[in-house]
Amino acid sequence: MKSLGTVQIPQNVLDYWKSLGEIETVQYQGLEGYFSLVLNPGKSNASEWEKLRKDGASVMSKLPKKVTEIQLVNVDWDAPKALAFAEGLILADYRFDKYLTSNEKRTALQVTLLGAGSEQLVEVEIIANAVKSARNWVNEPVNALNAQGLGEVFAEMGKTLGFKVEVFGEAQIESLKMGGLLAVNKGSQEPPTFSVLEYKPSGAKNQQPIVLVGKGVVFDTGGLSLKPTPNSMDMMKCDMGGAAVVGGVFEAIAKLQWPIWLVGLVPSTDNRPGEMATCPGDIITMYDGTTVEVLNTDAEGRLILADALSFAKKYEPQLVIDYATLTGAAARTLGTYGSALMSQAPDSVVKSLKKAGENTYERLAELPLWEEYYEEIKGGIADLKNLGKGEGGAQSAAMFLRHFTSYPWAHIDIAGTAFATSASHYTPKGGTGVGVRLTLEFLRQYIHG
Ligand code: BES
Ligand code: MN
Ligand code: ZN
Repeated sequence: MKSLGTVQIPQNVLDYWKSLGEIETVQYQGLEGYFSLVLNPGKSNASEWEKLRKDGASVMSKLPKKVTEIQLVNVDWDAPKALAFAEGLILADYRFDKYLTSNEKRTALQVTLLGAGSEQLVEVEIIANAVKSARNWVNEPVNALNAQGLGEVFAEMGKTLGFKVEVFGEAQIESLKMGGLLAVNKGSQEPPTFSVLEYKPSGAKNQQPIVLVGKGVVFDTGGLSLKPTPNSMDMMKCDMGGAAVVGGVFEAIAKLQWPIWLVGLVPSTDNRPGEMATCPGDIITMYDGTTVEVLNTDAEGRLILADALSFAKKYEPQLVIDYATLTGAAARTLGTYGSALMSQAPDSVVKSLKKAGENTYERLAELPLWEEYYEEIKGGIADLKNLGKGEGGAQSAAMFLRHFTSYPWAHIDIAGTAFATSASHYTPKGGTGVGVRLTLEFLRQYIHG
C-alpha cells in the first residue's frame, strides 16, 4: 500500500498550471505521490493539440520529484485533447541518464486518464515509448552502438515482439555486392550490417508491403572528406536517426498489432577515414549495377540508401518511405521546425503524410524533385556522381536516391530535426525520435481509410 500523506505542489506552480488554461482543478487524492488534474474542455484541432502537448510537458517539468502517479480527468466528451496533454506529459518524461553515476535517477511517471480517451491512452503510451527507444538509440554514442550493435537491437526486438529480423553481416553484404554500403565501410575497422525487418500479420490490409528504409550511419566523420568538429562532426552520432525511426515504428506496430504488412531495411556502417577509406574520385559499382563516382566521401548517406532502395524492389512494394539525416541543406532550409519531404508518390500519399505531420507536429515541407537536380549528379566518367551543387543540396541528394527507385516513394530528410542541441517543451536535448509519431499517424490513416 502507498503511504498516506500529501504532495506539496508549490502555490506558484499551481497558479502557473492553471494559467496555461488547460487545467481546471488540481485534486489531491490524499496519497503520497499521487494527484489528479481536471482538464478543461475546449476546441480540438492540430494547433490546439500541440499547445496541449507543450502544456503537458510544462506540468511534467515542474512536477515535484516525489510524484510518481498522475491522474488526468477529462471532463470533455472528446478524447484528442486529453490524449495530446497526456502525450506531452509522457514524452517529456525522458532522461538519457544511464551513464550518470550519481543517484538522481527518477522512475517513470505513471499516467492514468479518466473519461473520454481512457482506452486510447495505452496506444499513446506505446507510441511514446517507441519514440523514447528511438531517442535512446540516437543518444548512444558509436563506442556503445555500432553497426553490429544496431543489428542486434533489431534482432532482439524481433525476438521479443514476434516479427522476423534478418541481419546480413559483412560476408553476405559482399556476396550481394552492395557496393555503396561497402564503399562507405571501407575506412572503418568495424563491419557493416544490413538489417531486414518484416512484420506481416495475417489480417494485413495491404497486399504489397510498405517498406521503410532508414539511414544507419552510426557515426559520420565525413570519411576522407573529413568534417570539422564544432557544430558538425560533434553531433554525428545522430546519423542513424533514420534507422531509429524504422526501429521505433516496428516496436510500436508490433505491440499495437496493427493490421499492416511492413518491411524495414537498415543499411548500417560508420563513415571513417581509415587507411583503406574510399578516396574522392573512386568509382564504385552499386548493388543494382549503377556506377558512381564518389566525389565527396561525406555524401555517404545516399550511397548506402541507394543499395537499400534497389534491394526494396524485390518486395514489389506499394510504397517505400526512407528516413535519413541526409543533408545539411535540408536543415538550413527548414531549421529545426520540420523535415523535408521529397516524393514521387501519389498525391493522396503526400497529402496523408503532410496531414500526419500537422497532427503530430512533426511537420513536413515539400521540396521539388525537378529534373535539373538530376542533371547535376548525372554523367561524367561514371553513370552518376555522388555530389551535386551546394545550392539545392537536399534535392540533388534526393534525385540521386530516385535513380534507384521503381515504385511509389517518399523521402524524408530529417537532418534538421533528428537531433536537438537544446531542450524544448516535450523534446529533450539530443535524439528527438522525430519520424516515429509521424509515421505511425500516417499508418493509422492508411489502415482506417
Ligand atoms: N550526415 C550528414 C548530414 C547532416 C548534417 C546530418 C547535419 C545532420 C545534421 C551527411 O552525410 C552529410 O555529410 N551531408 C553533406 C553532403 C555534401 C557533402 C554533399 C552535407 O550536407 O554537407
Ligand atoms: Mn556525411
Ligand atoms: Zn551522413
